[in-house]
Amino acid sequence: MTTASASPIPVAALVSGGGTNLQSLLDALRESPLARIVRVVSSQAGAGALERARRADVPTTVLRNPADPDELMAALDDARLAVLAGYLKRVPASVVARFRWRLINIHPALLPGFGGRGMYGRRVHEAVLASGARVSGATVHYVDEEFDRGPIIAQWPVPVLAHDTPDSLAARVLEVEHQLLPMVVLELARRGVPPEPVKLSVKEPDFDETTTRRKGDA
Ligand code: GRF
Repeated sequence: MTTASASPIPVAALVSGGGTNLQSLLDALRESPLARIVRVVSSQAGAGALERARRADVPTTVLRNPADPDELMAALDDARLAVLAGYLKRVPASVVARFRWRLINIHPALLPGFGGRGMYGRRVHEAVLASGARVSGATVHYVDEEFDRGPIIAQWPVPVLAHDTPDSLAARVLEVEHQLLPMVVLELARRGVPPEPVKLSVKEPDFDETTTRRKGDA
């Protein structure tokens, strides 16, 4: 069953930092018939991600108070899907409820491990290395009322190498994040942003059993 809409679904990205994940979305969705980044909402006035949005001619909003649900709902406007792309603030519960199964986050480890309050950025990779784990990766999941706890949509494993530092591991995971996040957004859009959680299995270079299109197809 195909549920693709006639015009690209409007997607909002929420950011706090440099915005490399935002850039991967802007690049992947620019010409897509399925989904388009239509606004970028930042919790930080100085976020590098805002400059990336401006360069792509995407309207931006800087939140005065990220804890204010009305302000955030207004900023998200008509977005069908909202993507936390390096967004470090808690999303107010009423916004989570309004965006149930339409609000997703990317996390730089294999949840449910190495997530939760305070687990972001370098700390995640330090914790992975300290644990002795041989595999890390990226996770895209739905946002619910708990940090990093919503149902997992897709994961992409990345090996932890013997001489990894937090920075080298972060860089390897980030490369995968930049592929996984646009893939998930496009697949959710292709399915019409389903009103219930979906689970996708990643099989390079495309999704297993979720699409008949392969890379290189029109
Ligand atoms: C990424 O590792 C992402 O998983 C995490 O924060 C980092 C953001 O990087 N949530 P960027 O701002 O997208 O470059």
